[in-house]
Amino acid sequence: MAVDLLLGLQWGDEGKGKIVDVLTKNYDIIARFQGGPNAGHTLEFDGIKHVLHTIPSGIFHDNAVNLVGNGVVIDPVIFKKELDNLAKFNRDFTKNLLISRKAHLILPTHRLLDAASEASKGKAKIGSTLKGIGPTYMDKTGRNGIRVGDLELSNWQEKYRNLANKHEAMIDFYDVDLQYNLAELEADFFEAIEVLKSLQFIDSEEYLHQAQKNNKTVLAEGAQGSLLDIDFGTYPFVTSSNTTAAGACTGLGVAPGAINEVFGIFKAYTTRVGSGPFPTELFDSYGETMGRVGNEFGATTGRPRRCGWLDLVALKYAVQVNGVTQLMMMKGDVLSGFDKLKVCTAYNYKGEKITHLPYNIEAENVTPIYTEMKGWKEDLTKMNNASQLPKALINYIEFLEKELEGPIKIVSVGPDRTQTIHR
Ligand code: IMP
Repeated sequence: MAVDLLLGLQWGDEGKGKIVDVLTKNYDIIARFQGGPNAGHTLEFDGIKHVLHTIPSGIFHDNAVNLVGNGVVIDPVIFKKELDNLAKFNRDFTKNLLISRKAHLILPTHRLLDAASEASKGKAKIGSTLKGIGPTYMDKTGRNGIRVGDLELSNWQEKYRNLANKHEAMIDFYDVDLQYNLAELEADFFEAIEVLKSLQFIDSEEYLHQAQKNNKTVLAEGAQGSLLDIDFGTYPFVTSSNTTAAGACTGLGVAPGAINEVFGIFKAYTTRVGSGPFPTELFDSYGETMGRVGNEFGATTGRPRRCGWLDLVALKYAVQVNGVTQLMMMKGDVLSGFDKLKVCTAYNYKGEKITHLPYNIEAENVTPIYTEMKGWKEDLTKMNNASQLPKALINYIEFLEKELEGPIKIVSVGPDRTQTIHR
């Protein structure tokens, strides 16, 4: 029983990267199980901020191997850029970075298809990061995709050409104004493929199986958040993978019985980037303050994130779907100075009070019912011990623990590794 999971319980951007970095010292293997470069995992230490997109967040530690699992989709061009950014560390990452042969590749035309699809949707667009995620997973489930292991075969370029040609025809079908130079995009792509090939490709499910037999500890790292899950999220305004706990089984080849702890991460408030329903969204000075103080801009796209009060109806749903065993609360420091805090504990759903997440949470169906709590004034960012936390924050935490029926074991009080309080 050596696999723990760490995943986001909201709409992504909860701070998973920071916590994976903090926890890596306890693990032999950090394994990313889904998503792709739509993710932006931000880590901060020694005064420097690092943003990772595909590479697991344990990469800065020597004790752990980092694995990109079969459930991940890889854009070689972005992957190469991530490796280039790591070059300043003067370490040979080819030794502790492994790639699953079964991971799928994002082609330049997948990115173009994403853009064409979004443009064709007009106002109904998903608000995709435009990294080609949806079209790549579509080719995966449509059984047309190109996998990392294909790069070891002699005929993969032929397969590539056939698929890219088909994509071009599909782009034409969308009939939108999309300017692109495929030859240029392909030159970057093929150059990046060579860099990718310098890394170790492995049969990752077998590697993890052996690792478990040898009592190695594994932390499975999720991307995005539970409410962006393709099945359980706010469909269609979701990403194209299973971001919830089950995704770790299919995205790594780990059996359900092998999973031990499930760490669920949430912010002390809620954010969302892109389109889709968000019942507790704020359009007032409270929301504006969360965005400004919390520096709520997408790590991948730079887009401002929508902000709102904590939604316990949605959070409880995520705790249940994932079987969370330990909670971690991020960004409590951002709420310092708020005279009051509101927490949504139920919805008014078509005239009826409900406490579960219904099929449809669009604003016309759902109005949040709030419990109001006292805020705290103290600056939390210099605190390093649970005994220093202000009384009002402890009340907030204990209220959430009771509602969510689980312990909050980590309270993060700033972006740096060191600003992490264990309870
Ligand atoms: P896609 O996965 O890029 O197609 O985007 C689909 C939806 O998920 C959009 O609303 C994105 O803003 C959102 N999304 C994708 N990745 C992330 C993430 O890492 N953090 C937050 N939102 C994300």
